[in-house]
Amino acid sequence: MRDTILVTGGAGFIGSNFILDWINATHSSVINLDLLTYAGNPANLSSLQGDGRYLLGVGDICDAERVASLLLLHRPRAIVHFAAESHVDRSIASPEPFIRTNVLGTFVLLEQALLYWSKLEPADQQAFRFLHVSTDEVYGSLAADDPPFAETAAYAPNSPYAASKAASDHLARAYHRTWGLPVLTTNCSNNYGPFQFPEKLIPLMTLNALEYKPLPVYGDGGQMRDWLYVEDHCAAIRAVLEKGRVGETYHIGGNSERRNLDVVTAICDMVDEMHPVAGLAPRRNLVTFVEDRPGHDRRYAMDASKIVRELGWRPAEGFESGLRKTVRWYLDHPAWVEGVRSGAYLDWIQQNYTERITT
Ligand code: NAD
Ligand code: TYD
Repeated sequence: MRDTILVTGGAGFIGSNFILDWINATHSSVINLDLLTYAGNPANLSSLQGDGRYLLGVGDICDAERVASLLLLHRPRAIVHFAAESHVDRSIASPEPFIRTNVLGTFVLLEQALLYWSKLEPADQQAFRFLHVSTDEVYGSLAADDPPFAETAAYAPNSPYAASKAASDHLARAYHRTWGLPVLTTNCSNNYGPFQFPEKLIPLMTLNALEYKPLPVYGDGGQMRDWLYVEDHCAAIRAVLEKGRVGETYHIGGNSERRNLDVVTAICDMVDEMHPVAGLAPRRNLVTFVEDRPGHDRRYAMDASKIVRELGWRPAEGFESGLRKTVRWYLDHPAWVEGVRSGAYLDWIQQNYTERITT
């Protein structure tokens, strides 16, 4: 084995932040297997151009031959699996790609990892890790006074996205229990930070607020999410790779539960402050309540006490400071924003919002 890791989905939001963090924090190399769907953007990693420790291999995790040849050629010591279809609203509009990539793709990856791992020398078998990145959404929705989800919570996914991630978690678990593949699973809460595709809440609202467009809040805006700054997530994944117990699941949360409406108004105030336009009303006035998401989970929250206790990780970023950095980043990177607003992005905005009735 070499001191290299194979990252899947490394051109997406969390994957690209993770690769930048990994190159910065370690001496190890990275192979990035990414299909470059609408959500994959190699520009996120342009700062690594010419760096001999980074290689992009464009390809599909559902393609067994492609995965096998990358494993044999690069002989990685770990696989960190981010690749997925990740947007709940898209999974409601069109579930099939979610089943294909998240379920079939994870199966293909596990199967090829098992073949590769079973032929390693015993010491390399001991050292190898397959880290499967998953979500709090597999547990369904919490009531206002429920305790946060612990690793023992029952699976109860409510969207096609959550169901496909739940299926992938079960497959990852089974490959460990049945064949001993050294799998680790992490389930995290909502990430935010640089390079997030602007179909998700925080970048969408930031850019709409900047451009004085309506801010479409689903339902009454009272849904709660626990926000995790993406750099904290990357540090947690490094800790789990280094010190996590094989076969275990670790929850990663940001200790920052907020109502959607409060997140949106906080963004408005920050954009007003950072980009004031004389004579125009406060951007909070742009909030527009629209038809709710079907099956919309009311609340997610993660109990991250296991990773704190066992691995000594805890989130370093507070929500207000992390949000401020994030809003600033989007305002300072208009060329990146322009680059991701392709035809496919505009089609999605048209489909999701023009057909949603204002309430
Ligand atoms: P993203 O949508 O930004 O990126 C996904 C990446 O996977 C893209 O680069 C895309 O090109 C690639 N990809 C898609 N299908 C592929 C395929 N068949 N083969 C190879 N590559 C493919 O997603 P993200 O927000 O960075 O999420 C990464 C992971 O973290 C996902 O597994 C997601 O379920 C999980 N997660 C995300 C969040 C969040 O808040 N973003 C929260 C919890 C868990
Ligand atoms: P999102 O970023 O899609 O993440 P997830 O659904 O995985 O939690 O949405 C975060 C929350 O914001 C979720 O409760 C849905 C809500 N939301 C809106 O109210 N309006 C929007 O336009 C979007 C994209 C999301």
